[in-house]
Amino acid sequence: MPRAQVPVTGRSWAPGSLWPMCGIIGVTGSDDPLRFVLDGLALLEYRGYDSAGVVLVATAGEAEGLSGTGALWRRRSAVRGESIPALERFAGTDLVPGARTGIGHTRWATHGAPTEGNAHPHLDCTGRVAVVHNGIIENHRHLAAKLVAAGHVLRSETDTEVVAHLVEAEVTAGASLLEAVQRCVSEIRGDFGLVLASADEPEVLVATRQTSPLIVGRTSSLGLVASDISALLETTRELYALGDGEIAELRPGVIRVVDRAGTRVEPTRLRVGWGVRAAQREGFEDFMSKEIHEQPRALTDTILGRIHADGTTELEELGIKEIELAAISRVIVIACGSSYHAGLTGRVAIEAWAKLACTVEIASEFRYRNPIIEPGTLVLAISQSGETVDTFHALREAKRRGALTVVLTNVVDSLMTREADGVLYTRAGPEIGVASTKCHTAQILLLQVFALHLASLRRSLSTDEIAELAALVVAVPARVGDVVARFDEYRHTAEQLAFVDDVFFLGRGGGYAVALEGALKLKELAYVRAEGYPAGEMKHGPISLIDRDAVVVVVANRGSLSAKLLANVEEVRARGATVVALCDTDDPEVAGLADIVLEVPHTDETVAAAVLVVPLQVLAYGVARARGNDVDRPRNLAKVVTVE
Ligand code: AGP
Repeated sequence: MPRAQVPVTGRSWAPGSLWPMCGIIGVTGSDDPLRFVLDGLALLEYRGYDSAGVVLVATAGEAEGLSGTGALWRRRSAVRGESIPALERFAGTDLVPGARTGIGHTRWATHGAPTEGNAHPHLDCTGRVAVVHNGIIENHRHLAAKLVAAGHVLRSETDTEVVAHLVEAEVTAGASLLEAVQRCVSEIRGDFGLVLASADEPEVLVATRQTSPLIVGRTSSLGLVASDISALLETTRELYALGDGEIAELRPGVIRVVDRAGTRVEPTRLRVGWGVRAAQREGFEDFMSKEIHEQPRALTDTILGRIHADGTTELEELGIKEIELAAISRVIVIACGSSYHAGLTGRVAIEAWAKLACTVEIASEFRYRNPIIEPGTLVLAISQSGETVDTFHALREAKRRGALTVVLTNVVDSLMTREADGVLYTRAGPEIGVASTKCHTAQILLLQVFALHLASLRRSLSTDEIAELAALVVAVPARVGDVVARFDEYRHTAEQLAFVDDVFFLGRGGGYAVALEGALKLKELAYVRAEGYPAGEMKHGPISLIDRDAVVVVVANRGSLSAKLLANVEEVRARGATVVALCDTDDPEVAGLADIVLEVPHTDETVAAAVLVVPLQVLAYGVARARGNDVDRPRNLAKVVTVE
């Protein structure tokens, strides 16, 4: 078990099951469900703050201004970061007298802009079924088409709303909420945590999940559910992890769990050893280590429904016609910092797979260089935040010069998405730590999916070659999971380097961008001078800096340039440097050359970057922590850089 692990035991609660997006809360049996839900949302807000919403279930006839036929009261707000305070104005107003049940949601948008109309809870056509959701419903388009053909009216752009309508059909036919969910859930593909309320059963909530976690709990008078434990800890320690595919019916003081066949299941009790603040970090010491651990999940979500092991890619969301994309003749990537490094990795795939000329430019330089944009140029801006002012202006300049533009970002509806012709979203969930970790690896993987998409449109590779590469891409989240599991081991290694002053990071080919990213992480977190360099370039000058005090980290995974890289390692060793090798497990040759080894399970070099960068994140993390630095808020830096 890694050191920073969650001190809760119980089924389904492991780092691999962390789900970064959206907060869910629900209660039944409360005298003031709105207060309860709003307090819970405030604790969950770190999971997403694009919008928030609540539904209270009134006993028919007891409330004013109800939606639909009258028993669900819904309020939503989509003022980024301010939605929960906006909902506070309804608290204490007794607008829904008699309501004892409520659900709430704080959203991190994935499907549909962060508008009020897309904010959860979503309702069915009759306004009698409400749903909140965390995750991605992969087959939502297919389900929506079926529902519309059957006469349903869908009002939002979300993947979630289909669930309310599927359940509506069953409830209208006489099913209880539990039976309705049981019947519908097998139609839904993807990852989800769902909580539903129905006007017909004012003291019942139904919750179910697939991959993304849900915790249920009770007191003698309450039934409780939340997407994570932090929202429930102040109310009860009687908490249970809902298992994959299980369905919980909550009533005041009572939890009943069944599987999809309706067979009663005994839920697993969680043993909880910590308080609310730690719970927001899910027990991790800081957001950075939490976000490092979230990477397998973030990568899985990022490629969900977009690439399949047979080589098919689906990127309709991009919003650019395939014919236009197939016709591009050149790609210019613009970005800053870690996003720039992701761009360098993306270039390798764009050139090798899509066979397109690709350059990667520092955004703050591009704009002022009078760049040449020929017809057929695609300018691809990469920005985690979508708000970095250097990248934004470079994007605007490229557009002014006639480029087709795409932004690859993690933040729905951010500034750049409104500027670009097309958008690709990573689905890493909110990244709180200033140092980019999960967003960086998600960018890399999405760029590789995009490169394969271009390759298939341009027919630059055979179908077999595309399928082979797609299988490698699809396997990356699991490989990343393998390295994340070695977090403690890498951190321990980092502690041996706690007091270094000067570090070179060397790589060749695909390893070069990894070296740059490793150096940036060490600089920004540990405040150590660190330089990322192409290994072959050392002999053209920088090698004069190498002596017995130098520390050289080499990205030395097995690959086509291994022999050349090892020759460069010999060169720095001969001058007395301490060599830290990031290499494949069981590579005695590299291990024999190194003083310190960071082992990674072998990953094909074409897709290895996202895997290799993880130990270097942990290396920087470990050195920074050993020096007593605040890893979530390193000095002089901001998460979003809105100045030139
Ligand atoms: C990464 O760890 C840094 N904090 C920084 O380099 C960052 O990648 C850069 O500022 C770009 O930000 P963006 O991706 O939001 O545009």
